[in-house]
Amino acid sequence: MKKFIKRIGISILALLGLSIVVAGSMGLMGQRDLNKTRPIQPQQVNIPTDSASIAAGQRWATVLCTGCHGENYAGSKFMDVPALGMVCAPNLTPAGVGQYYRDADWVRAIRHGLNPQGKAFVIMPSENFQYLSDEHLGQLTAYLKSLPPVEQTWPSRNFTFLSMVMYQAGAMGLLPTDKIDHQSQHPTPVKADTPAYGQYLANLTGCNMCHGTNMKGGTSPDVESPPCPDISAGSAAGRWGAEGFVRVLRTGITPQGKELNSKFMPWREHGRLDDVQLRAIYAYLQTSK
Ligand code: HEC
Ligand code: HEC
Repeated sequence: MKKFIKRIGISILALLGLSIVVAGSMGLMGQRDLNKTRPIQPQQVNIPTDSASIAAGQRWATVLCTGCHGENYAGSKFMDVPALGMVCAPNLTPAGVGQYYRDADWVRAIRHGLNPQGKAFVIMPSENFQYLSDEHLGQLTAYLKSLPPVEQTWPSRNFTFLSMVMYQAGAMGLLPTDKIDHQSQHPTPVKADTPAYGQYLANLTGCNMCHGTNMKGGTSPDVESPPCPDISAGSAAGRWGAEGFVRVLRTGITPQGKELNSKFMPWREHGRLDDVQLRAIYAYLQTSK
């Protein structure tokens, strides 16, 4: 009996030792994978300089970028969880990365999910922004280049060993850059309140990242978030009508009287889309059953 227990004890110790070795090497592999450079040639995009294009770019930026990089684009602390680490959304103005970013660097970052050295972003949702047409990406970049400088610095990202192990074990899913088709073409869709244009906007704003691929409800990447409700055609939201839907995205209050938490459901940013754009998203949601 004693011998038997001893043998079990030894096997448990051996297993424990083995898992420490496995976790350790997974952490190192995760670290290496995150820090490796990915030699992707950014696509050629024309960056305009006229004021109409810059104004159009500002509209894209207020909807897509301010939620994390701040209303003045000087950045913000995105995540600071002791067990996992800290990540900041950097300062995009000419006092921040704008100081050294060339046109190709903006394209590489926004469309391909990589910094100028080819290192992958972990949080920045380029898997959504990859859908920006060449024209719209050009407008957005033109606007970012025109920003006034705002002095503000942030610490560089810092992940704990535990988060490296979790990343390597697949608990965090793929990196944004690994979800992107780096070769695809990017024509500009026709602007109208049609499902096709709505799908374009839903891709950019990432509705399905949270509400699920067919909008039937899902889990937000933000661990603190409540569940993301069903917003497909058959859901409560699917019966609000286009007018009602536009009002909810503008006010954050549903016809049922529920106040949507803007920390988890980015209605303040998405509600800045114009009427045609919000109606287009509603038309697209009506096609998801
Ligand atoms: C969900 C939050 C979020 C949104 C929305 C977001 N970003 Fe970011 N961004 C980040 C974070 C966090 C980083 C730091 C890199 C990482 O994710 O590991 C980053 C990094 C960047 C960088 C890289 C700077 C460098 O160090 O080289 C650029 C450029 C950038 N973002 C531009 C944008 C633009 C333009 C938009 C809007 C189209 C945008 N971001 C929207 C969170 C966000
Ligand atoms: C970062 C995750 C996230 C993204 C992106 C997101 N949502 Fe949400 N959404 C949520 C969460 C979480 C809630 C629930 C909020 C609450 O309970 O306060 C919600 C609630 C809603 C509701 C209210 C539904 C109801 O019946 O009460 C609607 C409508 C909605 N979202 C539409 C959209 C649309 C359209 C998009 C894209 C333009 C979008 N959301 C993008 C997370 C998200």
